[in-house]
Amino acid sequence: MQTIDTSTSIFKKPPFTLALAEELLTSYNSPLYVYQSDILQRTIARITNAIPYPQTQFCFASVTNGNIALLQIFQACGWGLHANTPGDIYLGIKAGFAPNKIVYSGSNLHQNEMEQVLRWGVTTLNLDSLSQLRLCCEVYQSLRESQQILTPPRLGLRLNLPELTGDSRIGVRSTEFLAAISIAKAAGLKLSGLHFYRGTGTNSTAAFTQVIDTIIAVAQQLPDWEYLDFGGGFGYPYRGGTAFDWELFGAELTDRINRLDRVINLIIEPGRSAVAGCATLLAKVVSTKWQEGKQIVGVDTTVANLSVPSVHGGYREIYSWNCEDLLHLTDVCGNTTYSRDYLGKNCQLPALAMGEILAILDVGAYGYAMSSHFLHRPRPAEVLLENNQHRLIRRREDYRILLANQVFE
Ligand SMILES: Cc1ncc(COP(=O)(O)O)c(C=O)c1O
Repeated sequence: MQTIDTSTSIFKKPPFTLALAEELLTSYNSPLYVYQSDILQRTIARITNAIPYPQTQFCFASVTNGNIALLQIFQACGWGLHANTPGDIYLGIKAGFAPNKIVYSGSNLHQNEMEQVLRWGVTTLNLDSLSQLRLCCEVYQSLRESQQILTPPRLGLRLNLPELTGDSRIGVRSTEFLAAISIAKAAGLKLSGLHFYRGTGTNSTAAFTQVIDTIIAVAQQLPDWEYLDFGGGFGYPYRGGTAFDWELFGAELTDRINRLDRVINLIIEPGRSAVAGCATLLAKVVSTKWQEGKQIVGVDTTVANLSVPSVHGGYREIYSWNCEDLLHLTDVCGNTTYSRDYLGKNCQLPALAMGEILAILDVGAYGYAMSSHFLHRPRPAEVLLENNQHRLIRRREDYRILLANQVFE
């Protein structure tokens, strides 16, 4: 069992009132994912303004959150989309992103999927192995011969540099570049991009700024290099405290790129850092008991609705609007007997009563997106607060979802 340690957290406040939380649960029921458009738009603006380099395209990593209403906010702000999978592309197109604003940087497609990605018109693809590159080139050639696509894709490589990327399975070593260049050339294509992913949820800005020179030096080994794709992995301050410094990163990256003897395009793929802070999961207390001075609170949501804290050891602050001063060591438990069904362990919360509302903060990234039907609880609804109004952006599931696609007599 992963211990969810809250000891270093500073207590955060939820971004809306108890009265609004009550209104939302009365309208949409509990548990409920609540997204705030103003917070999301402020974060998007802050990240966008932090990188002054003019040829920059931000691409939201929708692996973190695939809700179309949110994707549309990114799209309206001029961002593109980073697609990890064909499903990300499908959602991106449905949200209104032009295919040439979608950057595929994923792994291990089979032939039909590669065909689908190119047919959708995605023009920038960062491949993570020579065999995926070869497959992409073969598929492109056959689609071009049958005149099913006319524009050649812009190809890049995801970099695997053990001294920076550790023992990551993903990416191509720089020693493979020559082979990669000739695979692309044989198909009449160029390798014009380098993609670098620093590592998941890194709050240290220096971890990014210190590698810029190395990445640029490696990229220059590609004779046709014309774009750098840097991201994601930018951290989010779930516990408060030091946050990733976008302005510092943007200034240093811009400075280094401006010193190059060529003009390149820059792609930045923020995921959690862009979307984490705009969402709250509301849940109600359905059980309370005490064990050796510890408060054991049962809520009407589960680790299957929000898997990060318990399954992946992440931290999400749990807030109560109850103003009592006396705080107690509290475990917040999900509504199943699964041994890892904790939303929070060793939290500091007031004595709670049945029916009280709890707010689990900063759940915009890898929240709903990682929810599942494990434990056979239908998923919550999602609502968006926008212009002082709320609207449903995903319906609550009911038990029928558990039968979907099952074949039985
Ligand atoms: C290529 C790429 N870019 C961006 C992201 C988003 O990562 P994060 O949420 O850590 O910013 C991912 C996550 O899997 C990724 O694989």
